[in-house]
Amino acid sequence: MAEPKTGERMEKIVSLCKRRGFIFQSSEIYGGLNGFWDYGPLGAELKRNIKECWWRSLTQLREDVVGLDASIIMHPRIWDASGHTSTFSDLMVDCLLTKKRYRADQIEPQSGTAYHYSGALDGGATPGGMHKESLAYQAFELYLREMNHAPLADLDPQRLKTCLYQLCKAQDSKTRTEEELEGMVSDTINQVVGGLNREPFSVLLPPGKPVESARKVAWQFYHQRGTQFPALLGERSEPLQNTTRFNPENGSLLTEPRPFNLMLKTSVGPVESADNLAYLRPETAQAIFVQFKNVQEVSRQKIPFGICQIGKAFRNEINPRNFTFRSREFEQMELEFFIRPDEVVQKMTGSVAQLSGPQSSGVNPQPNWGWELWHQYWVAQRLQWYESIGLGRDTLVEYWQPKEELAHYAKATVDIQFKFPFGTQELEGIAARGDFDLTQHQKFSGKSMEYFDEEAKAKYVPHVIEPSAGVDRLALALICNAYGEDQAPDEKGKLETRVVMKLHPRIAPIKVAVFPLLKNRAELVKKAKEVRDLLRPHLTVFYDEAGAIGRRYRRQDEAGTPFGATIDFETLGENGPELKDTVTLRERDSMKQQRVKIGELPALLMERVR
Ligand code: GAP
Repeated sequence: MAEPKTGERMEKIVSLCKRRGFIFQSSEIYGGLNGFWDYGPLGAELKRNIKECWWRSLTQLREDVVGLDASIIMHPRIWDASGHTSTFSDLMVDCLLTKKRYRADQIEPQSGTAYHYSGALDGGATPGGMHKESLAYQAFELYLREMNHAPLADLDPQRLKTCLYQLCKAQDSKTRTEEELEGMVSDTINQVVGGLNREPFSVLLPPGKPVESARKVAWQFYHQRGTQFPALLGERSEPLQNTTRFNPENGSLLTEPRPFNLMLKTSVGPVESADNLAYLRPETAQAIFVQFKNVQEVSRQKIPFGICQIGKAFRNEINPRNFTFRSREFEQMELEFFIRPDEVVQKMTGSVAQLSGPQSSGVNPQPNWGWELWHQYWVAQRLQWYESIGLGRDTLVEYWQPKEELAHYAKATVDIQFKFPFGTQELEGIAARGDFDLTQHQKFSGKSMEYFDEEAKAKYVPHVIEPSAGVDRLALALICNAYGEDQAPDEKGKLETRVVMKLHPRIAPIKVAVFPLLKNRAELVKKAKEVRDLLRPHLTVFYDEAGAIGRRYRRQDEAGTPFGATIDFETLGENGPELKDTVTLRERDSMKQQRVKIGELPALLMERVR
């Protein structure tokens, strides 16, 4: 079956998410709130499964990682120490016409003709037209040409007067005296300068568009700023290549890029004042650093070891977009894995092991590993984890950030990217952060973050490798990856299009659906409910008796339920004793069916969903 096009595919996914209760717009009945999302019954289960898989893989299946659950609002000095108050910002630009705000790096470069305007007179011109008749207007044009289009903010009234005088004289010298001309010029100047808009403005037009389109946009710009019928002044044009200074939606000039801090503010306590200012955490990581000492002492972990945390983070993103991909409230799953500084490893083992090609996640960590090998190890571990929940290696890209892209504290960062329908984008960043964070908190809090390493007989501030992933982004990747359309036979055997969410059984919201073949046969319903109750303590089960069996299968295919168990007449023993107490177990992806003994169902399903 032909694959839907990129935009179409995303539209279908968004619509399925709403229809089936994966994801809803937040505050929908009030018109929604941009950048905020709610997870419905299926979405909530999906997220829980993702988080449980991640948590289990780190804290239960390893000996060297422990968990933390810290508060969202923390001491504001933490964000000074981490650098968030001073540097956690994106460059933003505003459209001068619509006031809409954009991230500067998201403006696509464009080429075309830019039309520049020096300002506008309130001269009675209509949108798209130029007002050429009045002497005052012509005087401004003459003035601007003579002044080489110097900004009208620095208007030289005397020079303007001279321009107007020349024009008046050329037109009226025979009918008016010198004195009358002088008086007329002064009156006109006083009148027009009062209604002058001195703000420059520009419009970019794509090749082939007539100049009137630029004039219309400029007219709207000056009209919005209080000039009722703007006569545009000083129009001139220039060809531009690959510029990002204009709004691609309407051609209007954008403001100069300026930094915008992404932290959401609140105040703590009954008085709202600068002293009570606090932030909703923009990442969960900092809590791990500030609790490093406490956690290390109580868990009696020795370096190398990690602390992980799952929790909400908030960023006042300039442009939330691509569904939940960039939200203002989201969840992170972060691990800070503390390691010895390379100098300590060198002293302890005699040498720091060197990189020798791509690290296998199967390799056991060694005492002579420095940060580079630990970093590679975690990249491999994380890729393996994504594969274990159904993101095939071919859907992921390992992107090593070049030096110029690295954050100031990072020695190296690898982004694990996923091929979303809207482009290949980051799912998780794995950064080697050195000792930046602990050293900063030591400096700002005055409390030692040093660790005494008995084995190495050395005291040091540990270094850290940080795999940091987003739950919502991963949920979206899994949904996009799972979405499929194929052909399946309907009740009468005719092929029809089936929408199927091929979610890995480990993270599927419902693991098994239980159906009585017919709802009006009491024995079938009774048996089906027994099967449901048998499975319930072990897995999420959905019981459905409404509608034709084919339709019930389709509903579960859309929900991503990997297995369906149907209780039919064979189950009741009506077609021979050998099939009594067996059910039809249908597999979502292959649609294959097999007979399974009811007593064997829990173990068989448990094995396939773990
Ligand atoms: N402590 C490091 C840190 O926070 P980050 O790259 O800014 O690094 C880590 O964020 C992960 O958090 C990202 O890879 C992404 O999965 C998720 N994330 C970040 N901003 C997000 C947003 N606005 N909406 C959804 N997820 C986001």
